[in-house]
Amino acid sequence: MSKIEKIRGVRGMNDVLPADARWWRRLEESVAATMAAYGYQRIRTPIVEPTGLFVRGIGEVTDIVEKEMYSFVDSLNGEALTLRPECTAGVVRAVIEHNLLYDGPKRLWYTGPMFRHERPQKGRYRQFHQVGAEALGFAGPDADCEVILLCQRLWDDLGLAGISLEINSLGQPPERVAHREALIAYFEAHVDELDADARRRLHSNPLRILDTKNPVMQGLVEAAPRLADFLGEESRAHFESLQTMLRSRNIPFRINPRLVRGLDYYNLTVFEWVADGLTVCGGGRYDPLIGMLGGKPAPACGFALGVERIIELMRAEADSGVDPACDVYVVHQGEAAGLLALGLAERLRDRGLDVILHCGEGSFKSQFKRADASLATVALIIGEEEAAGSRVGVKWLREAGAGQQSVALADIDEWLIDRMSGSIDEHTGDD
Ligand code: HAM
Repeated sequence: MSKIEKIRGVRGMNDVLPADARWWRRLEESVAATMAAYGYQRIRTPIVEPTGLFVRGIGEVTDIVEKEMYSFVDSLNGEALTLRPECTAGVVRAVIEHNLLYDGPKRLWYTGPMFRHERPQKGRYRQFHQVGAEALGFAGPDADCEVILLCQRLWDDLGLAGISLEINSLGQPPERVAHREALIAYFEAHVDELDADARRRLHSNPLRILDTKNPVMQGLVEAAPRLADFLGEESRAHFESLQTMLRSRNIPFRINPRLVRGLDYYNLTVFEWVADGLTVCGGGRYDPLIGMLGGKPAPACGFALGVERIIELMRAEADSGVDPACDVYVVHQGEAAGLLALGLAERLRDRGLDVILHCGEGSFKSQFKRADASLATVALIIGEEEAAGSRVGVKWLREAGAGQQSVALADIDEWLIDRMSGSIDEHTGDD
């Protein structure tokens, strides 16, 4: 007989298995609390959006739009659709569509899967998750500072040291145009020193020449005109003011003049949080975007963090361990005992305990094996003898050498809750 081939998951798209649930839950809880602490409200937008949203929003000549989008044509109506590679464009679309800024600025946050057709490697996946926040309708550097402080509070709450902040200012579009022209003039004057790549990019994308890895060109690139020198009074003041606020909160940062970000919608402040050479979070101001997507122009800024990358850091900081699946494991044998056990499990769940009721047959020995593996704190036992006497056997599974106790079935709820009150809630509400 021929062997049936297994179907495997899509490359670069991962399953999050139960053993990892606690990291995800820890992060999600911390995110929800931190967003609330700053007055951000949750928004959920679809995973699929019109392709044009990203082409216009992120920019036609970005890596994401040129080569990383999962795009397809809806076979029913011919619509061009794309799995979202990020969420800022979708949030802005929703804000415009539902006129959310009609009564003033909004603070929004989101979390969910994003899709980019990148080469998978550690920390880089084709389906990955982001948590993001967008402050819409705020023009000043105080909003830039707020989203940065929000990130810092999150790192602190998660116990993550060693994430460092880099900031830069991209100025306004006309300032960037003037810088670009100066760059072209500068490289034209040194065309003999350019390699083939740089010559090809000279007029199409001179900024990319600054990223060259060619050691021969390093001196030339170092001396090239800097965007910082093209910033006008207002852009400069905005950037200075942000720095003053960050210093007042003792947030360390480094100004990185090379920090440009990979999406076209940014202006003024951009920032990235970096750990072990990997960017775990990025964002900035994107005042042009709402207008570019057909809304009444309004300023905005925000960030998104990579959930998998943050969880990798959390895992490295903390000790290993596994999530208990429940508080109580109920073992039972015999028909009458089975019915009593069914009722007992429901009663304990009513009281907020997480309970696994043994399903199927099995010797006490095999049932206790399962109880142990569930990491439950306690096993409750109803055998034929207990059923006949309306009693429950109690065995504390995490206490070495603990004997079995016997408690009246009618009293077991109160008795157990009394003794377990410290450990309940620690792991209730699993996802
Ligand atoms: P981004 O820098 O493209 O910005 O992505 C934000 C974060 O998502 C990155 O710093 C990284 O941690 C994570 N990330 C990106 N691509 C991958 C991948 N292939 N695998 C794993 N993690 C990844 C944005 O998406 C903007 N929407 C951020 C923003 C919000 N700007 C303003 N508001």
